[in-house]
Amino acid sequence: MQVSNHGGRALDGTPGAITVLPSIAEVVKGDVPLIMDRGIRRGTDAVKALALGANAVAIGRPVMFGLTLGGASGVDCVIEYLRRETVNTVLHLGANRLGALGRQHVRQSAAPGTQVPVQVGADHLA
Ligand SMILES: Cc1cc2nc3c(=O)[nH]c(=O)nc-3n(C[C@H](O)[C@H](O)[C@H](O)COP(=O)(O)O)c2cc1C
Repeated sequence: MQVSNHGGRALDGTPGAITVLPSIAEVVKGDVPLIMDRGIRRGTDAVKALALGANAVAIGRPVMFGLTLGGASGVDCVIEYLRRETVNTVLHLGANRLGALGRQHVRQSAAPGTQVPVQVGADHLA
């Protein structure tokens, strides 16, 4: 199942996919793989989505940015950057694999609709 607001282009004002993802994940309880898109720009974005219940993320505009700037190798570059940032973020969180990510790795920030990654058990380092 794709969790998406179609890039926010179809109906202005719809909630972000990341905002509704946790409640959808709670309902499907892993019975249906969840792919989230919208706003994945950095590895931390991918990790937040995976921690909140997505099994995978999809990217739209960054692929087009890469294509515009560098053709096929520009797209490869975008995907490789995202892959590396995702792996780095997982390691910085102290998780050893994507499957180990969970809600404990994300904290709701003071700004509505935004989440920040959290190093579990490392609050004293902040
Ligand atoms: C130029 C453009 C055209 C799109 N056309 C459609 C469309 O026809 N139908 C649809 O469901 N989503 C469409 N989308 C949304 C994408 O499928 C996808 O949900 C979105 O781009 C993902 O968010 P991101 O671009 O922030 O990564 C479009 C997005 C862009 C940028």
